[in-house]
Amino acid sequence: MSQDRNIKAGELDLRQEASLTSGSDSWHLQGVPEQGYEGYMITDGPYGLRKATGSDVYGSVPATCFPPTAGLASSWNPDLTYRVGQAMGEECIQEEVAVILGPGINIKRSPLGGRNFEYYSEDPVLAGHQAAGLVEGVQSKGVGTSLKHFAANNQETDRLRVSSDVDQRTLREIYLPAFEYVVKHAKPWTIMCAYNKLNGVYGSENRWLLTDVLRGEWGYEGLVMSDWGAVHDRAAALRAGLNLEMPPSDSDQEVVQAVQAGNLDKDQLDRMAQGVLDLIAKARPAMSQKGYRYDVGAHNQVARQAAQESIVMLKNEDGVLPLSAGEKIALIGEFARTPRYQGGGSSHITPTKVTTALDSFKETGMDVDFAPGFTLDDAPQDAALTDQALKAAAGADKVVLFLGLPEDAESEGFDRTSMDLPAKQLDLLKAVGQANDQVIVVLSNGSVVSVTDWIPQAKAVLESWLLGQAGGQAVVDILTGQANPSGRLPETIPEHLEDNPTITSFPGEEGHSRYGEGVYVGYRYYDTFKRRVAFPFGFGLSYSTFEISDVRLEKTGPNAVQVSMTVANTSRVDGAQTVQVYVAPCASKVGRPSHELKAFAKVFLKAGQSREVRMDLDQRDFAYWSTAMDGWHVEAGTYGIEVGTSSRDLVARLDVDLDGDGLFIRLNSDSTMEEWREDPIGGPIMKSHVEGGKVPMPNDPNTAKLFDSMPLVSVITISGGDGRRVVADMITDYQQALEQKGLIGASKGHE
Ligand code: BGC
Repeated sequence: MSQDRNIKAGELDLRQEASLTSGSDSWHLQGVPEQGYEGYMITDGPYGLRKATGSDVYGSVPATCFPPTAGLASSWNPDLTYRVGQAMGEECIQEEVAVILGPGINIKRSPLGGRNFEYYSEDPVLAGHQAAGLVEGVQSKGVGTSLKHFAANNQETDRLRVSSDVDQRTLREIYLPAFEYVVKHAKPWTIMCAYNKLNGVYGSENRWLLTDVLRGEWGYEGLVMSDWGAVHDRAAALRAGLNLEMPPSDSDQEVVQAVQAGNLDKDQLDRMAQGVLDLIAKARPAMSQKGYRYDVGAHNQVARQAAQESIVMLKNEDGVLPLSAGEKIALIGEFARTPRYQGGGSSHITPTKVTTALDSFKETGMDVDFAPGFTLDDAPQDAALTDQALKAAAGADKVVLFLGLPEDAESEGFDRTSMDLPAKQLDLLKAVGQANDQVIVVLSNGSVVSVTDWIPQAKAVLESWLLGQAGGQAVVDILTGQANPSGRLPETIPEHLEDNPTITSFPGEEGHSRYGEGVYVGYRYYDTFKRRVAFPFGFGLSYSTFEISDVRLEKTGPNAVQVSMTVANTSRVDGAQTVQVYVAPCASKVGRPSHELKAFAKVFLKAGQSREVRMDLDQRDFAYWSTAMDGWHVEAGTYGIEVGTSSRDLVARLDVDLDGDGLFIRLNSDSTMEEWREDPIGGPIMKSHVEGGKVPMPNDPNTAKLFDSMPLVSVITISGGDGRRVVADMITDYQQALEQKGLIGASKGHE
């Protein structure tokens, strides 16, 4: 049968069409083989290929384990995520996988989120840009991605049923923009809906999300699939805009019956099934490259470079790092020998090889004495291990101590209950610090851990997250100065868990998780409310020193700005600085975070080199989501443009006056006294009615304040006047004034 013929779903019989909208097994599309549409494989994701060899999550063909997302996110480098994506795409071609299930881009709402290691950031701009690079990289090879989990999938507790209760503004400003950015800029072939409900409606049945917003507002043209087992009602899911149920639930007959009974529009079924056919047609060229082989060694190199860029140097007192060739090193901690390099659950892959820090140290030829220090289980500390570690520490110039979260401390499927490292590891740090004061801590953890209480005991700290299969080498590259640390924190490290804004509401109760902190997530909260943090969002040190100078703004439109600056490497070491641009809002009618990341650039500079960097901000970068207008709104006013190297290390702040978008909320009978008075058009009308004695205006300031917050009609009625008639007259005057100014039709929001 010809492979070139593009069939239309509507040409198939109802049963065939229904079956297309569900997989043929856990990892395959259904296809129409007799028409040249093969049921290709689709499988995890997200930081390497997990092509299952059986039903066990942990059995899969070897694939390169790139740094899990928590690590990769810290690279602040979409060009790097692109290269990782390309390599993943090539592995998919070899293994005949048409779609890799990732990346996951949900916001890290709480440090306790069980899948934080699979997600990028507490900030949607960083998450969106990093993920877009990865999606473009994979898809440049003719293989699809699946952006997941759409949407508001920010916890594991009760994950299959919980309702994420999020107000519209918070959704639009925090939880949807990363998806929106990737959809618009990278066009992922597929999107995976979330297990959870959003405001009471399952992700798989949420028509507002899957059709109105995703396809209607954002123009998405790809396929939406379910998370595994997320469909509860086939017809409802298809009606909502879900093309594909995974894995199949043997319920095609339900779909057929729904069409026959008029509960599912045939055109809608055609559209949903067509999405599956289109996906197969898109993947066909790559899937036809039989016998393709990727370069295993080259991909390991990509993993190594990605891991280097994922490491964040948090502290380096007295230049204790990098290590020098002649120094005697005590290498302590089981993680140096048994690295924790990936997370648990559906993302777990079988690496092509794993390099440990211990092996990599040995390869450097340095004088290294290893002691495991502790076991990775929760057995009490073994005194013999402590003694051995202390002996090694005492005899060394410097100690490199690997600490971290053991495998069973975090995984898909459950949230953490604490941010702390295991107590026995911290006890060991204390003891080692007494034996040798040159302690360098290397952390291995998927989700953020507390550092406040123990960091004074360390001279240097590398946050190395989970680094994938080449992580051991990458850590040694950084420790020895073969590579220069360039990672930046994609999330704030709070001083204490209790400082986090979700502390009162995460992970919710009785089936609901109420996002009560609203838009104040991560640094948006800590910075606005001036909370102390251990390390701010965007922070990271380097062996180089940099200077940012000559920051300038140029207005490129009524609500658009270009920011430019010179970034210089003022040291003798090649390195990279990550310049971050934050926007501080103008005086606003609504509460807004004190500033928000809107653009960033990782600038690689040779020793002594400098470069001019430009970043553009457009109207959306200044907007907030107005619930009253049901849309984005830019107020006129003076905005601050901040340039810095973290959310707290700002090197310049310049102001810019923006015209605003001209949108306003039309006054009506429910508008308050204050709203009428402050409105540029309504104000004079109100004034003339006050002067004419039709609208009361108390002299007592407290009563005036009380009146201010009341709807005008109520004030007049309570004062004994004919509120309705007076307000109707005022509205007539208001309409005429709007017409005279040519403003009719320009307004948004309620009448
Ligand atoms: C996870 C998804 C994953 C799918 C297939 C689900 O449990 O939530 O992220 O892609 O399983 O393994």
